[in-house]
Amino acid sequence: MEPKKEMHRLGSVLVTVFVLCLQLNLAVTGDCPADGRTWVPFQDKCYHFVHGEEDSIKSYTFERAKSLCQGFGLLTILSAEENDFVIKYSPQVWKGNVNVWLGMYYDTDSENMCWLHDEAPVRYTNWEDSSSPSDLVPVDTCVALHSNTGKWENISCLDEVENGVICKTDQKTETKPKSNALLSALVILSVVAIVGISAVIWFLHQRHNIGSTIMTAFEYHPPFRVLNSDQSYLVEAEETDTVP
Ligand SMILES: *[C@@H]1O[C@H](CO)[C@@H](O)[C@H](O)[C@H]1NC(C)=O
Repeated sequence: MEPKKEMHRLGSVLVTVFVLCLQLNLAVTGDCPADGRTWVPFQDKCYHFVHGEEDSIKSYTFERAKSLCQGFGLLTILSAEENDFVIKYSPQVWKGNVNVWLGMYYDTDSENMCWLHDEAPVRYTNWEDSSSPSDLVPVDTCVALHSNTGKWENISCLDEVENGVICKTDQKTETKPKSNALLSALVILSVVAIVGISAVIWFLHQRHNIGSTIMTAFEYHPPFRVLNSDQSYLVEAEETDTVP
């Protein structure tokens, strides 16, 4: 009866530990900024599409667009999948076909276009076919993405244009494997500790039971008690002998 109860309690403790770990794990995954704005997770990044009033786009310069991201980066596009994601998601935010600012600038040192926030050099590009060379001053050259075609166009950074603003940041997944390893270690340790403690308690319990049955055995059939009564009988007999 007792060991069964003990096992039952151990089982419920294990289930509780498991559920707690599951909840912790869920809390760790999919970490987009919780700053009150809507962040859309895609792959290991988060995207915030800046809504204009009544879902229509407002005119911003490149500098103003950057500042709208409030400490986060302006959209960078490092793969065709990311380009597709922006094309597919934009109509859910803005009515009609829009252009979107890219966080790209002309770097005078390398004399090339560079991404603002990713240190990586520009590898994936999706330029539109242009027959005419641009008359833009390189340092004032910015890039916009056409949300209907996904193609990229060189535009002036200084013009106030009705471009959509998309902010991008990393999901906090870098710490996940670490904390997962730590969690697993904690789970294994606590399970080992619980099993160990339960085993010790159970063992002590069993020993106590055996001990008490031995004690009762002694109590009910004490050999010296029989001897005692015999002795007292003898003493009594001796006393009666010496009286006359
Ligand atoms: C835009 O400018 C970059 C860098 O100057 C150039 O490589 C690219 O071909 C240009 N794209 C278009 C569509 O003109």
